[in-house]
Amino acid sequence: MSKTISGFSKLSKSKKIDWIVDTYFSNAEDAKSILKQYWNTNDKLQQLHDEFIENTITNYYLPLGVAPNFLINDKLYTIPMAIEESSVVAAASKAAKFWLDRGGFKTTVISTTKIGQVHFMYSGDTDKLKRFFQDVKPMLFKDSEAITKNMTKRGGGILDIELRDKTSEIDNYFQLHVSFETLNAMGANFINSCLEQFAKTFKNEALNFDLFSETEQQIEIVMSILSNYVPDCLVRAEVSCPVEKLSDNPAISGEAFARKFIQAVNIAEIEPYRAVTHNKGVMNGIDAVVLATGNDFRAVEAGVHAYASRNGRYSSLSHAKIEDGIFKFWMEIPLALGTVGGLTGLHPLVKLALEMLHKPSAPELMQIVAVAGLAQNFAALRSLTTTGIQQGHMKMHLMNILNQFEANDEEKLKLTDYFKTKTVTHNAVIEALKSLRN
Ligand code: MEV
Repeated sequence: MSKTISGFSKLSKSKKIDWIVDTYFSNAEDAKSILKQYWNTNDKLQQLHDEFIENTITNYYLPLGVAPNFLINDKLYTIPMAIEESSVVAAASKAAKFWLDRGGFKTTVISTTKIGQVHFMYSGDTDKLKRFFQDVKPMLFKDSEAITKNMTKRGGGILDIELRDKTSEIDNYFQLHVSFETLNAMGANFINSCLEQFAKTFKNEALNFDLFSETEQQIEIVMSILSNYVPDCLVRAEVSCPVEKLSDNPAISGEAFARKFIQAVNIAEIEPYRAVTHNKGVMNGIDAVVLATGNDFRAVEAGVHAYASRNGRYSSLSHAKIEDGIFKFWMEIPLALGTVGGLTGLHPLVKLALEMLHKPSAPELMQIVAVAGLAQNFAALRSLTTTGIQQGHMKMHLMNILNQFEANDEEKLKLTDYFKTKTVTHNAVIEALKSLRN
């Protein structure tokens, strides 16, 4: 059984490692040397990473790849992607190239509003609460001015504060439902700071509101927190081209390709089992860019999947149709992203990724990220409805298998060449490696 420990966070990094390796590993020295292998030789850089979180013992690498040739609103981009899944960057690059020759991607930001809520309990006369809210509302804005001053100067800030009655679902439950414009910031800290100030003002002012009885004065704040559901922070990405230009494979006509592709999308629109996997493919592209640009991929994931269920049934994020001989494939997706604040000014690779993307504003980044998602989804559906997914996947996975069996450079070269015309399976690779080694 594992041991418990108190005061772990106060130990030095080296003492933490000693405790971990002594507690969990049969070969403590080996474990320690693996952890140390991933330390950066630049002490300052290592310290920066150590201090991102608590109890850091080492760094966890993900490859940072790039997918070039993305034409978005007539501007070219090379998109940085941090991801471990072998086929994702290759698929994105392929889709970028495919659409480069067909007019590229078009995007529009539909809206950029974010939401935060103060959840509270009030037991008493609802009309009196409404009067109180009207009275206190200007004070909520005023008391948070120290927090909102800079954001307001730049054109953002608090858009509106509403009182919402949720008592039909939970007794005595109400909300301050607040909308924000956070410009180039993802805005989590800004929103949460505003909300906590609202909660303080709201609770304190209730104690002095003459119309309230003593019980009514006792508003209980449950919590104040932003929402990661951002259906009004929405971006649209699309591609289109004449149907006959859609296929670059002489074995399949543009018409046949489009028909099957649209069938696949329609299936994801009505079948949740398929929709989840379909959207996972979208998120392969989205998460990789979100991560590379130092944004919060958990927030994005939570918000996107909630959005995919907004009509009561989990459904496809993307859609496709043929209209007047033109194939159209598009997606509208909620993305709360930032290009200032958080990791964006701290992590050297994030800064580099943002510079590679022409230092985008948050709305520009929303468009780039949405394109990465749509491209990924296009690439997946294209493979699924033509060759099947495994051909490409296993080709990319070949290197992982070769590395697992410690193939040297020469073996890798020979076997990559050999498998150009063969089906890659785990067994086939082992057999081929064996015969090469004999
Ligand atoms: C694999 O990571 C993603 C796919 O399963 C997506 C899809 O099925 O559309 C290929």
